[in-house]
Amino acid sequence: MKHLISLSLLSADFLDLRRDIEMINNSEADWLHLDIMDGVFVPNISFGFPILDELKRVCKKPMDVHLMIVQPEKFISQIAETGAYMMNVHYEVCTHLNRTIHAIKEAGMKAGVTLNPHTPVCLLEDIIQDVDMVLLMSVNPGFGGQKFIEHSVEKTATLKEMILRKGLPTLIEVDGGINLETGKRLLDAGADVLVAGNFVFNSDNPKQMIHELKML
Ligand code: DX5
Ligand code: ZN
Repeated sequence: MKHLISLSLLSADFLDLRRDIEMINNSEADWLHLDIMDGVFVPNISFGFPILDELKRVCKKPMDVHLMIVQPEKFISQIAETGAYMMNVHYEVCTHLNRTIHAIKEAGMKAGVTLNPHTPVCLLEDIIQDVDMVLLMSVNPGFGGQKFIEHSVEKTATLKEMILRKGLPTLIEVDGGINLETGKRLLDAGADVLVAGNFVFNSDNPKQMIHELKML
């Protein structure tokens, strides 16, 4: 499978969201990555349902929702109502992850589990067969534009090895500090989906940057 690009809205111009959504709609980006933060699980607050509900009307790309919140299971039906394609919950906040993953699927979405940089891949041994995607954080979650954590490349390779060993179709998405250089190394290590925010939106030609990420 050719790799996918999930564009993170966090670095968009929130005063000109319509313009940025149109750029994304007309770009080669495969998904729109939406970072929801609660100021509890992560030391920042981003945006929530009022934005997701509006995006549903104008965004033509599948929505890849990354919940950086405690108790994400409370919001499964509300996220499903936004038309989200993928719902990613953090491993670190899910006491009953198996139940949560199945509830996400029953609500009609793909289910993703997200690991913080310090959370080892081996903890997924008994849940990976149930998830559609693993989202590996390559920065500490909470902010766009941070420096890529180098160990993420090795971690991606370890996860790929687990997925191949079990013969599963699980996707690997990596999020944080991705540019052409880190993106290439992650793809070589086995990543399927690259999240990009700052690298694209802070460039002079976002559509061209998306194209270059897609060409890696
Ligand atoms: C960080 C978010 C990321 C972030 C990535 O908490 O989960 O999705 O927007 O942004 P960049 O590409 O700027 O590191
Ligand atoms: Zn994210």
